[in-house]
Amino acid sequence: MNEATGITLPSVFLIAHEPRHRGELESLLARHFNVQTYDDLHAALGALESQAPDVVVIENDMPPKGGLRMLVMQAGGLPKPPGFLVTAKKGEGLNVSFADGPAAGRYLTWPFSGRVLIDQISELINHSAEKGWENLPDNQRRPLQMTVEEYQKVADAIAAGEPIDYKSAAESCEPLVDATKDGAAHALLVAVQSHHDYTYVHSTRVATLLTLFGHGLGMKGDNLLILSTGGLLHDVGKLVTPPEILGKPGKLDDQEWPIMQNHVVESGHLLSHNPDVVRGARIIAEQHHEKLDGTGYPLGLKGKDLNDLARMSTIVDIFGALTDARSYKPAFPAEKAFAILEDMGGGIDQNLLKVFKEIFLPGSKAEAA
Ligand SMILES: [Fe+2]
Ligand SMILES: [Fe+2]
Repeated sequence: MNEATGITLPSVFLIAHEPRHRGELESLLARHFNVQTYDDLHAALGALESQAPDVVVIENDMPPKGGLRMLVMQAGGLPKPPGFLVTAKKGEGLNVSFADGPAAGRYLTWPFSGRVLIDQISELINHSAEKGWENLPDNQRRPLQMTVEEYQKVADAIAAGEPIDYKSAAESCEPLVDATKDGAAHALLVAVQSHHDYTYVHSTRVATLLTLFGHGLGMKGDNLLILSTGGLLHDVGKLVTPPEILGKPGKLDDQEWPIMQNHVVESGHLLSHNPDVVRGARIIAEQHHEKLDGTGYPLGLKGKDLNDLARMSTIVDIFGALTDARSYKPAFPAEKAFAILEDMGGGIDQNLLKVFKEIFLPGSKAEAA
């Protein structure tokens, strides 16, 4: 857990006895999650009494008498709330049924790819995150449920080669705008992080931050909705970026970096198919990586070429990324993120940054003085 932000990576218990599989799984999982590994069922059971990981990955035939079956017997049922992923060798039958239907448990037979493993675990985490949102107050639950459904619709449309339905995306953002006016933006920024689809999480946080920024600047009605919808859709181009580049934990190399940067061009391209997309939302999608001094991408626009919407999106996009937890970096506290943005000097609009800081951290100016 990051003490300053309350944001943490999902946790996974790995319970496996066979050394080669255990080693392979551990190194794969450690790139994406906080992993605790057990080669002994009793030790794992003890840990499960005091901790609630998001997902338990367990070998099907743990000695002496089976993995999940023994765990269920000894714990008197499937411990809640985690999802379970059972790994089995070819020809082994699954020796337990999942009480809560397929969404609470998955089954993989060796050999399987790392991508399949991470996707399955992500789906289990997302299932439990979305279930957890059901308990939130209405003004937090509705924006989260509506944006996550909308993001899936957008991903499905892109996969099917169909245009993005901008009107539907804008409608799904209305509760988010209301939540921001209600003072629920900070709670939303934390709650959305329990989901494990990073592009969705980042996009919803950028939508929330941009709306909060606009609200603080006195913007109203349709303008707030444009900020929110533009924020939700700003990185849709990443839905066609290869996942191994998108999820790479280390630095991108010289071949990978242009592919990553191309998401901005793709975002603009995907939004260009629908005449309903308003100009402001396209500016957010196409210019959120531009910098005032011309060092940004894809066009290297400069100074007065960039209007307030573009300048706000650049600030918020960087701030959102800095305050997110990833497997390769902790979530920075807001104060540290603002310090980094202040150090960026003329790359970003420092006057707008001051305003955003005062909106996000009211009283910060007075404290600094
Ligand atoms: Fe981006
Ligand atoms: Fe972004």
